[in-house]
Amino acid sequence: MSYDEFYIKSVIRSLPDWPEPGVMFRDITPIFKDPKALRMVADAFIQRYMDSELTHIACIDARGFLIASIMAYQMQKPLVLVRKKGKLPGETVHQEYQLEYGTSAVEMQVDAVGPGDKVLVFDDLIATGGTILAACTLIKRLGAEVIESAALVDLPDLQGSIRIQETGIPVFTMLAYE
Ligand code: PRP
Ligand code: ADE
Repeated sequence: MSYDEFYIKSVIRSLPDWPEPGVMFRDITPIFKDPKALRMVADAFIQRYMDSELTHIACIDARGFLIASIMAYQMQKPLVLVRKKGKLPGETVHQEYQLEYGTSAVEMQVDAVGPGDKVLVFDDLIATGGTILAACTLIKRLGAEVIESAALVDLPDLQGSIRIQETGIPVFTMLAYE
């Protein structure tokens, strides 16, 4: 798996005290303005999962959608959405969780995944791990298996990736910001 960590980090922007005092916000949006960085990131994830057993990619609202949809297209795998509360029509399952700043809830449509499906959960960033854990809870409630969770960025000081691993779900991240 080849990618230039220093180049990708040079593209990500760090904003102190956003969205509230004390938070150092790691803004990945400049990656989408930089075709070289986007291709590097997407290709690295595709290379990691191309020959894996996964049957579905579950991507998390909103920035998780962007890279995961490129992966799903290239890998020809179904993409299912884990959305913030109230965005998905039809019958849904719902899970509340805590954020680094505040609380939130995610939902999936009940027919998104089911028994026998092997799901990769993808988001842009792991902070406390609450979002990915909530997504994994929904996927398990629907009867499917989470084979791995992945994100572009890890914030190890917040111990989210450790929390996820403690539940038995492997975690892969490309970059860490201490
Ligand atoms: C951010 C990020 C992850 C989540 C990580 O989403 O995109 O989804 O926080 O935090 P956690 O590991 O503590 O759960 P945010 O809620 O800011 O929403 P957005 O992607 O819609 O901007
Ligand atoms: N989501 C939760 N914490 C974050 C942070 N520090 N930077 C970017 N996204 C986040």
